[in-house]
Amino acid sequence: MKPIIAPSILSADFGYLARDIEMINRSEAEWVHIDIMDGVFVPNISFGFPVLKYVAKLTNKPLDVHLMIVNPEKFIPEVKALGAHTMNVHYEACPHLHRVIQQIREAGMQPAVTINPATPVALLQDIIQDVYMVLIMSVNPGFGGQKFIEHSVEKVRELKSLIERTGSKALIEVDGGVNLETGARLVEAGADALVAGNAVFGAPDPEQMIRKLHEI
Ligand code: DX5
Ligand code: ZN
Repeated sequence: MKPIIAPSILSADFGYLARDIEMINRSEAEWVHIDIMDGVFVPNISFGFPVLKYVAKLTNKPLDVHLMIVNPEKFIPEVKALGAHTMNVHYEACPHLHRVIQQIREAGMQPAVTINPATPVALLQDIIQDVYMVLIMSVNPGFGGQKFIEHSVEKVRELKSLIERTGSKALIEVDGGVNLETGARLVEAGADALVAGNAVFGAPDPEQMIRKLHEI
């Protein structure tokens, strides 16, 4: 099975955002990955809803929205208004994760839980039946272009076995430092979806890089 490819627009050229989104539209990518940061949960601020409104209008691919913010449940209506397909919230930002997951589903989106590099897969045991997807961070969230954390491959394997053991249908997505080399190992370990920022937008031919990631 080909992995789902979700280029992250965090690494796009914001001066030419429409051009870069049109490239994704033409490409084989299945989703567009949107990174929202608040400068509190992560040490960086990316972009907010006024910008994303235009991104949503320009793209013809489902939006995979990754909220690196505190209290993500506050923004369920805004994310819904973008027409998002998936809403990813961080395990570390949600003391009442079960409730937030239900609220996302009730709003008509696919709920996903994201875990930071230091958060063990085993903590997902009691939520794995309720989520559409788990997003494993393979870098500390906040910035594009960081080095892949090797232990993430092992985490994908562990998550795959948790999913099989519990009969969950959750997909596994990985985000951070994904390129052709790390991507191949992640897919071999059980990843269903790969987010790629720098690997795509830093490539001489981004559309071709998406095709290559797809063929992993
Ligand atoms: C990091 C973001 C990622 C980022 C990935 O906080 O969640 O989606 O854009 O970028 P690369 O692929 O460059 O590591
Ligand atoms: Zn992300």
